[in-house]
Amino acid sequence: MKVAVMGFGTVGSGIAEILSQNKESVEKRAGKEISLKYILDIRDFPESPFAAYLTKNFEDIVNDPEVEVVCETIGGAKIAYDFTVRCLKAGKSVVTSNKELVATKGPELLQLAYENKVSYRYEASVGGGIPIIRSLYDSLAGNEITSVKGILNGTTNYILTKMINDGISFDTALAQAQKLGYAEQNPAADIEGTDACRKIAILSSISFGKYIDPDLVNTTGITEITLDDVAECEARNSVIKLLGIAKLGEDGRLSVRVEPTVIDENNPLSNVEGVFNAITVTGNALGDVMFYGKGAGKLPTASAVVADIIECAKAGENEKLRLWKTGDPDFVLPYSEQSAVLLLRFEDEDGSVKNAIADYAKEGSVICKNGITSFITKEMKITEHDVKTEELKEYGKLISRFNVEM
Ligand code: HSE
Repeated sequence: MKVAVMGFGTVGSGIAEILSQNKESVEKRAGKEISLKYILDIRDFPESPFAAYLTKNFEDIVNDPEVEVVCETIGGAKIAYDFTVRCLKAGKSVVTSNKELVATKGPELLQLAYENKVSYRYEASVGGGIPIIRSLYDSLAGNEITSVKGILNGTTNYILTKMINDGISFDTALAQAQKLGYAEQNPAADIEGTDACRKIAILSSISFGKYIDPDLVNTTGITEITLDDVAECEARNSVIKLLGIAKLGEDGRLSVRVEPTVIDENNPLSNVEGVFNAITVTGNALGDVMFYGKGAGKLPTASAVVADIIECAKAGENEKLRLWKTGDPDFVLPYSEQSAVLLLRFEDEDGSVKNAIADYAKEGSVICKNGITSFITKEMKITEHDVKTEELKEYGKLISRFNVEM
């Protein structure tokens, strides 16, 4: 299957890299060979390892019958719209990370894809690499969804995290986010909340089965938030986050908005930091489910586009490709060789309970550290098998032994 990428920016170049680096696993999952044939961009990239694929002529792509899937990572809703329409009409599936185009033209483009018996996929348009779109369509399909809320913009979450944790100014944090490739070409779309608005509109359209025009979503960004606001929230054991919120009322009507929101530090969303996004979906059967991951950046976002390419390749063969292969007994590492960090709890002679972490040293000694306030450190690697209960006796009576995940 031949693929073309339109727009060789942050995401487009990430797609080319993943298709090349993960070629074997991508093809295994797709069930067929997948090759990049063109990259469309008006700029020159003579130093790029993908320079041989570059073209400045869209006609090369749309008129090539070999090209089955086109990745649109141009952004915006003008040229990207024209090219997407022409590709779909030419019988090519289109996959995209372009939330502006999906949010504003989604109904039309999905209909056009349907009429031309191809796909229009947009997993990367919300939450970067987080698999939220397909989960809403497939995995949560047994639920009536009652609310969707979350941190949907990596740039603003990065800025707020820097302001909260490091006291860094808004402008400095924004410059860093731009340098890291998180921000939109025009970062006003991030900081004024427009990007999060498009994303909650897309999530709402899927979740509630009716197209939500982003113009109907009341949106406030983070430009007015000061370090004083941040300090005030801290004094209340809370943090300020930019949330997109959509809730279905009992009257069957939807409340949807984007706004800076103070959340208690016990709310899991308060711990979502930096470029990470998180989305909580509430279903009437399941209750709450939370999705968390990198919401922006080259490879996380490109990985979602590549997953959509694979979905296009699998059309009609899904069931065959979902079978589980058997017959490789060595695939699972024996328990005795698996690394883990343990939380050990001991009872002293006086009956008091001590918490400790066991940190296995190769010589066979077990080092216990009382108190668990700083128990998660990367250096703590032990081999579960080698921590013998007898060796622990000198620390007191072992009353529990838990695995700790980093
Ligand atoms: N500018 C967007 C963000 C990129 O910061 O989340 C991912 O959609």
